Amino acid sequence: MSDGLEDVVAANTVLSEVDGQRGQLIIRGHSLDELAGRARFEDVARILFDGFFDDLPADVAPALGAARAEVFGEVAALDTGLLDRTPIEAMRALTARLADGDDLPTALRLLAAPAVFTAAVIRAQGGHAPVAPDPALSHAADTLRMLHGRAPGKAEADALDTYLVTVCDHGLNASTFTARVIASTRAGLTSAVLGGIGALKGPLHGGAPGPVIEMLDEIGEPANARAWIEAALARGDRLMGFGHRIYRVRDPRADALKAAVRRLDDGSNVRPGRVAFAEAVEAAALAILKAHKPDRALDTNVEFYTALLLEALDFPPSAFTCVFAMGRVAGWVAHAREQVAGGRLIRPQSVYVGPAPLKAA
Ligand code: CMC
Repeated sequence: MSDGLEDVVAANTVLSEVDGQRGQLIIRGHSLDELAGRARFEDVARILFDGFFDDLPADVAPALGAARAEVFGEVAALDTGLLDRTPIEAMRALTARLADGDDLPTALRLLAAPAVFTAAVIRAQGGHAPVAPDPALSHAADTLRMLHGRAPGKAEADALDTYLVTVCDHGLNASTFTARVIASTRAGLTSAVLGGIGALKGPLHGGAPGPVIEMLDEIGEPANARAWIEAALARGDRLMGFGHRIYRVRDPRADALKAAVRRLDDGSNVRPGRVAFAEAVEAAALAILKAHKPDRALDTNVEFYTALLLEALDFPPSAFTCVFAMGRVAGWVAHAREQVAGGRLIRPQSVYVGPAPLKAA
């Protein structure tokens, strides 16, 4: 048995392929480069959903806009108890209010939910009233509008689209596997997505970009990078934003997001010198990790430049994982449908290594 199941193939999928040796990601026949920075999130969600719903419209944007307006009704359930929780716990709780189902309306509500609920939770935690969705806007533009209470510029909306598309699906990662296991019991799409959110929130999966900002803030300036990183590794800490189960080279999503941060850097969103500082920390981290683990190729993963991009779009670091869920929910739903369409109940075996029962006297 391989601990962590890394050598186990647990599904056939038409949805995405992660080539860890060459550093390539294919999403339903399209390389990431073809989609990131070029396609809107709703159009890529449609590519993922194609064939899994009979009534999928040619343009899902109007139906997704209507779904945002529909799920916004659940925001009224945000109470002080939920607002004391982390954003992802509050967002997960609101998502759990949605009915289970397997049809397109359920799928669209789930696609809408992380964006609508995250924006409302962040605003409410900051003491601001939630902003109702505008179904006529693109999903990315409306998400930023619901968050900030003003329509975003095109560059900001494009940057969020790039992010959502970049993270929309990624093979059989932990949260997608979780969603497929739940779907395989025929529990329904909402249950599968809730399981996905639960798995995503851990720091070894989708919870890393918030700590990336903490690391950058603690390092403060390039001259401190080496000492800070060496001390962290000496304590046995992992550097957030580096390493990957599949990639043995640089994660291609890191480059897509770095390019998006650079595009935003032309405007006023990115703090002066922030990209150059992050690059200096990245270079120091890569050099030190190489010396620290010479036998293990540890390179930059998606989370490092995610942190810079979401910071530039003014999401609080505590909510970065929620934004990851806004994109990955498209993959969870598609994988859940694929599992139901062609897969059996997922039920592996375990080897019992506990004590034998005491013999009856
Ligand atoms: N910093 C320091 N050491 C590391 C790191 C890191 N970021 N990543 C792996 N290692 C070491 C690890 O300590 C282990 O050493 P040893 O063999 O001495 O115990 C060795 O490299 C192999 O690690 P592993 O845990 O067996 O490898 P994995 O394939 O299970 O780890 C990972 C993948 C992403 C969990 C890990 O690289 C990590 O913890 N990275 C930091 C957290 C992070 O950035 N997470 C976001 C992942 S990308 C988003 C996604 O696609 O889900």
